[in-house]
Amino acid sequence: MDDYVVVAGPSSPALGEELSQLLNLPLIQTKSDVFPDGESRVRVMKQVKDRCCILVQSMYPPVDRHLFQCLLLARNLSLNGCRIHGIFPYIAYARQDRVFVEGELVSVELVAYLLKVAGILSITTIDIHSQTAAERFSIPLTNLTAVKVMADFLISKEDLSRPLIVSPDFGGSMRADAFAQAMGAETFAFKKQRDRSTGEVEIEKTNVPVKDRDAVVVDDMISTGGSVVKAAEVLREAGARRIFVMCTHPLLIGNALEKILNAGVQKVFGTDSIPSSVSKVSIAPLIAQHLRTRINMS
Ligand code: R5P
Repeated sequence: MDDYVVVAGPSSPALGEELSQLLNLPLIQTKSDVFPDGESRVRVMKQVKDRCCILVQSMYPPVDRHLFQCLLLARNLSLNGCRIHGIFPYIAYARQDRVFVEGELVSVELVAYLLKVAGILSITTIDIHSQTAAERFSIPLTNLTAVKVMADFLISKEDLSRPLIVSPDFGGSMRADAFAQAMGAETFAFKKQRDRSTGEVEIEKTNVPVKDRDAVVVDDMISTGGSVVKAAEVLREAGARRIFVMCTHPLLIGNALEKILNAGVQKVFGTDSIPSSVSKVSIAPLIAQHLRTRINMS
C-alpha cells in the first residue's frame, strides 16, 4: 500500500483528489496545456519513480485530447519505472466496438492497444458501452456498474409513483433490469434503430404500460440526447405521469439537455464520471471500494 500513489490526469482532477482522500494515498497532480499548433503537453507535477500509480483520466470530450493526454502520462510514468493501473470511468471510442459500415475500423481496439503499449497494466471503468467493447482489451479490464448507486440516489431524491424503468434500446435492457431490481420496480425496453450515416434515431411505438405511472429512462450515456428525446416522446404519448432520466455518462453534447427537458423530461441525473450540471451521483466511493480490495490483495 505504501507503494501506491494516485495520479490525477488533467480531465479528472476532482475524482483523483477524492480517490486519494478515500484511499488515504498521496495525490500527484498533473498540468496540461496545448501548443499553438494544437499538440498536447502534460506534466507530472512531482517526480514519481518506481511506484504503483493509479492514473485517473476520464476520456470525455474532447475525447482525442483526453485520450492522448492519458497516453502521454502513461508513457512518462512507465519510463520512470512505474506500474500503472488506469481508472478511466468513461472510455473513449467504446461505441465503435465493431464495423458498422464497411471501410471502418474497430476503433476501440486501437485505443486498447495504444493504452497497453503506453504502459497501462490494467483498467477499471464504469458501465462500458458493451461487453463487445470490453472484450477488445487484451489487458485486464474491470467494468464496475453505477446502477446501484444511481438507483439509491433516485430513491433518496424522488418520491416515485409505481415507477417503470425504461431502456431506450434492447442493448441496454440488462442495465435497466438491474436498475429495476435495485428499486423493486418493473422494466420495459424499446426497440431502437439508428441510421448509421446520419445518426438519427427511431424508436418503435409500442404499448408501454406507463399510463399514470412515473417512467425512469436508464442509459449508459447521453450524447446528442436523440435516444432519450425519442423515448420521452413515446412515454408521454403513452400517458406517463412524469419522466426521469438516469445515465452513467452525461456527455450532453451541445444543447442535448435543453432538448431533453423540452421533450417533457422532469429531471436528468448522471454520475460525475463526466463533469456537468447533472453529474450528481458520485462514483468515487464505488471505485475506492474496488481499489481497496485490489490493493489489499496485491
Ligand atoms: C447506444 O447504444 C447508447 O447506449 C446510448 O443510447 C446512445 O449512445 C446515446 O446517444 P444519443 O444521446 O446521441 O442518442
